[in-house]
Amino acid sequence: MNKPKISMEELVSYCKRRGFVFQASEIYGGVAGMYDFGPYGVELKNNLKRLWWKEVVYKNTNVVGLDSAIIQNPKVWQASGHVERFNDPMVDCKACKKRFRADKLADVDSTDVKELTDIIAKLDCPNCGKHDWTDIRQFNLLMKTFLGPVEDDSAVAYLRGETCQGIYTNYDNVRETTRAKLPFGVAQIGKAFRNEITPGDFLFRQREFEQAEMQMFVHPDEASKVFAEWKQARMEWHQSFLTKENLRFREHGENERAHYAKDAWDIEYNFPFGFKEMEGIHNRGDWDLSRHSKYSSKELDYFDEASGKKYIPWVVETSVGMDRLFLATILDAYHEEKVGDETRVVLKLKPELAPVKVAILPLSKKPELSKVAQEVFASVAGEYNVEYDETQSIGKRYRRQDEIGTPLCVTVDFESLDDKAVTVRDRDSMEQERVKMSELKEYLDSKLS
Ligand code: GAP
Repeated sequence: MNKPKISMEELVSYCKRRGFVFQASEIYGGVAGMYDFGPYGVELKNNLKRLWWKEVVYKNTNVVGLDSAIIQNPKVWQASGHVERFNDPMVDCKACKKRFRADKLADVDSTDVKELTDIIAKLDCPNCGKHDWTDIRQFNLLMKTFLGPVEDDSAVAYLRGETCQGIYTNYDNVRETTRAKLPFGVAQIGKAFRNEITPGDFLFRQREFEQAEMQMFVHPDEASKVFAEWKQARMEWHQSFLTKENLRFREHGENERAHYAKDAWDIEYNFPFGFKEMEGIHNRGDWDLSRHSKYSSKELDYFDEASGKKYIPWVVETSVGMDRLFLATILDAYHEEKVGDETRVVLKLKPELAPVKVAILPLSKKPELSKVAQEVFASVAGEYNVEYDETQSIGKRYRRQDEIGTPLCVTVDFESLDDKAVTVRDRDSMEQERVKMSELKEYLDSKLS
């Protein structure tokens, strides 16, 4: 494993210090597996989502978007197989009462209870060193709630465990309203919820997280080809802004695949705790549409005009966790550089992803400078996130902007009052250029594009 540029502890502290990520309900001691995105975090995450949407929806003539409800009819989750099979194996140490995910404890990519039991039988508890295990039990990950005032079994509903189920239930609506012919895809970004046994590794394993999923509906004979194309395209997309060496494919073994998957590959990223899944690409066969057709009694066959035949489309899915992508993006962009005797932290994000695109920094708080700097701000603000900052020394303000990845800083100094020009500093090269105020917006636009 490469030595990480930053440890997880340092990363968590940096994300908090710089307003990217806060522990949810921190003032009450937090809540396991939940995080809040601060002022710069929400910008970076929105930029990542926009980048994904452009790539998956706008670049493909046959992919459209959707935003479905988080809570669906509970039958959706019975049909999808999640009520019955969306389980993680769990085991407890009877001596110290610590709970483990059995496959993580056994350190294998398998959910086979017999295999896990055999491995764990040879292990001592990593927490207390004793050897006194409970049997392995299956724990369902769906989060429950109640709809309406009566909290009985008839009112149980589920927070979605994956966003794609709302795509399958709308398959026919989308097909009809867009007059789409196979193959066509539907994409969605949104929150998903899983009652993880052991949330951890910061944003990596949460109980509330965000997914960006695309479901391609295809003829069964086309599924393998479409799967291979999307698998490759998704890797190339990640490689367009993350270091190639930090990315790799991993194929799921038979005992590891989710209940719906005929074929499953992960795109893994080299996190400080090793290569781990960031995106899943799955051939889901006809599992989803045939189950929904059966449980809802609505025919979801596709009528192929060319052949005059009807069939249930197969689904090729790409599913990336936005929070894991967020983590990987910060880790990848994070650099520490020697500048003279000092070390500067710089987040080398591509401009499209940077939370703040431009910072306007008057050299001092003198009212005559502030006035001009405010005018400069007004002349460039509106289309992208521009920050105005007149506190602290200019050196400290540059470092602050470097740390959040701002590509360009604009300094308004006393000369600006006379020559109507400002100094623009580039984040990566730290080179400075004098630019006329009247040409500033055009200059910034060209640098940021
Ligand atoms: N619809 C398919 C599906 O949900 P998955 O492999 O279970 O497949 C897809 O999840 C992606 O969602 C994962 O690759 C991961 O990036 C993200 N993800 C899953 N569980 C997560 C969790 N507990 N916390 C953060 N992200 C998670």
